[in-house]
Amino acid sequence: MNRVLVVGSINMDLVVETDEFPAPGETLLGRRFATYPGGKGANQAVAARRLGAQVAMLGCVGRDAFGRELSDRLAAEGIDLCHLRTDGEASTGVAAITVSRAENSIVVVPGANHRLSPDDVAAAGEAFAEADVVLCQLEIPLATVAAAAGLAQRHGKPFLLNPAPAASLPADLSERIALLTPNEHELAVLSAGAGDGTWQARLARRPGRVLMTRGADGAWFAGRDGQLHHQPAFRVTAVDTTGAGDTFNGALAAFWGRPLAELARLACAASALSVTRAGAQGGMPTRDQLASFLGEAL
Ligand code: RIB
Repeated sequence: MNRVLVVGSINMDLVVETDEFPAPGETLLGRRFATYPGGKGANQAVAARRLGAQVAMLGCVGRDAFGRELSDRLAAEGIDLCHLRTDGEASTGVAAITVSRAENSIVVVPGANHRLSPDDVAAAGEAFAEADVVLCQLEIPLATVAAAAGLAQRHGKPFLLNPAPAASLPADLSERIALLTPNEHELAVLSAGAGDGTWQARLARRPGRVLMTRGADGAWFAGRDGQLHHQPAFRVTAVDTTGAGDTFNGALAAFWGRPLAELARLACAASALSVTRAGAQGGMPTRDQLASFLGEAL
């Protein structure tokens, strides 16, 4: 299996479950409150690890109770934390999440995630040298993402970017990305100002380099021949969709090296399983669970 280096965020998710989303100015009584480990980076690291990859995480937490708990959870998953830094100047990242009828809305306060710097990336050269693939998202500073892409390139390692939350990217960063995994909105933001505005046209302009997620519609990409390929979603009963995209990305990194259509199928299956339990990481499948869901050896 692959050795995956994840460069990204670590959050404590503060989750409120309600019957309806509150309107601005409205107060509702919720059903339940829970805290879960989260953060797009940590979630993707856990997803890849459960699927059998060796995973190292480059990230930053605060010197506080959330930081300690999240580090302990990642260590318990078997993730290498040699490059996890504890910062005394900021609190650990948190995400305030409202879940209603399996859908969610999220506000992230990055805290220590925004203290992860290009210097931290430079200090982790050994981790880049050892990785087969580097996976990143956009909950850390863009300069840090760019430094990670540059170091991955210097070491000749494929750089996968989940461009979430949505942001436009500088051209030199875009050129270094082996695979981008936006949803439809993120793809629109990435492509702003570039020709035809349909998502199909946007995919066709980047054949083989963008795998777009579309929720219950599965995933799409344009092949090298320019044709659009569709991987339908697997049908499951959703409890909480938080972390579905992260499971998708973790699976891509874990299985990186297989053809794109096969990666899309495995990632859609893993993310389907992930939504069947509460919490971003709660339903992330092990490799055996994924194999048995698909009815085949992996
Ligand atoms: O992608 C889901 C994640 O987004 C949550 O775990 C939350 O922490 C936010 O980062």
